[in-house]
Amino acid sequence: MEIGKVRRGLGRSLKTNFTTPSLVRCKKVPIVSPMGYNSPAYLSAVTSPKLHVRIPWLGFLDLGGYVKRMKALYKRLDDFHNYVIDDHIARRKGVTDEEKDFVDVLLQLAEDPNLEVKLTRDCIKGLLQDLLGGGTDTSAATVEWALCEILRQPRIINKAKEELNTVIGRNRWVEENDSPQLPYIEAIIMESMRLHPIVTPLTPHYAIDDCKVAGFDISKGTMVLINTWSIGRDPKSWDSPEEFLPERFLGKETDMLGSNFALLPFGSGRRRCPGYNLGLKMVRTTLANLLHGFEFELAEDVCLEEMYGLNKHPVKPLAVVMEPTLPPHLYRCYVSEE
Ligand code: HEM
Repeated sequence: MEIGKVRRGLGRSLKTNFTTPSLVRCKKVPIVSPMGYNSPAYLSAVTSPKLHVRIPWLGFLDLGGYVKRMKALYKRLDDFHNYVIDDHIARRKGVTDEEKDFVDVLLQLAEDPNLEVKLTRDCIKGLLQDLLGGGTDTSAATVEWALCEILRQPRIINKAKEELNTVIGRNRWVEENDSPQLPYIEAIIMESMRLHPIVTPLTPHYAIDDCKVAGFDISKGTMVLINTWSIGRDPKSWDSPEEFLPERFLGKETDMLGSNFALLPFGSGRRRCPGYNLGLKMVRTTLANLLHGFEFELAEDVCLEEMYGLNKHPVKPLAVVMEPTLPPHLYRCYVSEE
C-alpha cells in the first residue's frame, strides 16, 4: 500500500515508475530515481571533498564552484518541489481517500489548525526531499547490487524463482504482505546489504560524551565515521566474507536494523535511517517482482566496482535484457495505469 501511494504521488507528476515492471522491452534497464536524485550533479554536490571545509577562511573564493553548483541544484530541486506541490493542490478536489498519496496527506495536515508545529510549504518541501533524496536512490541501488550479485550465480536465481513459484504461483505479482513467506528473497537482500551497504561510511556521527570503545578513548565532540563496508566483510563476524551466500541467513533471526553491529545497512541509534520500513518494503517487492516476472540475460558483464558517492552504485550500471515470463494480462494492468 505504501509503495502504491508513493508511486502514485510521483507518477502523477512525473510519469516515473520505479517499482512497477514497466521496463519490459528495454535493452538497458536503468534503475533510476526520479528527478536526478542520483544524478552526478546531486551526488557530487553533496559528497565531493571541499577544500574550504578544511581551510574555512578560503570559503569566500568558492574554489571548485561548489556554492555556485549548490545554488543551481537548489533552484532545480526547489522548482521540482513547487511543481509537485502545485500539481497536487490543483488536483486535490478530484482525489478520493483511497487515491491520496504522501503529498496529499501532508497538504491535508498543513491545514490542521490544531497542529503543535505548523507544517509550512517549506516543511513539505523538506519532507519531500527526505523521501526522494533518502528513499529512492538507496532502494534502487540496493536492488541493483542484489541483481548484480545474483546474475553471476544462476543457482541463486533458480532457488529464488522456485520459492516465488511455490509461494506466489504464476498468476499474480508479489504483494507487500507476501514477504514473510519469502525467506530466500529476504536472505538475498540481507546478503546484498552486507556486501554492498549503500551508505558507507554512515553519515558522520558525533560523540556527545567522552567514552571508550573497544579500548579506544573517544573524546566528546569527535566525529565518528562508521565503515559499514569493512564491518560487513570482517572475517571475525562472517564466514567466507567475500562470498555472496544468502544461505548464511536462512533459519536465523538476524537483525539488520541497528542492534547487530556486524550488519548495519540502516545505521544504528537515534540517527538510524527513519525510512527503513518503507525502504525494505520497496526493495523486497521490487526485487521479488523482477525475479518473479522476468528472465534476465546480461547485456554486458556485471561490474562490481563501486563508484564513490553519497550512495554506492556500480561504476558501470547494470545492463540486462529482460523477457516477461508471466501471463501477458499481468503486465497489461501496469501499462494502462500510465
Ligand atoms: C534500502 C533503503 C535504504 C537504505 C539502505 C538506507 C540507509 C540509510 C543509512 C545507512 C542512513 C544513515 C544512518 C546513520 O548514519 O546511522 C540513512 C539515513 C536517512 N535515511 Fe535512509 N535508507 C533507505 C531508505 C530510506 C527511505 C525510504 C527514506 C525516506 C522515506 C530514508 C530517509 C533517510 C533520512 C531522512 C536519513 C537521515 C536521517 C538523519 O540524519 O537523522 N531512507 N539511511
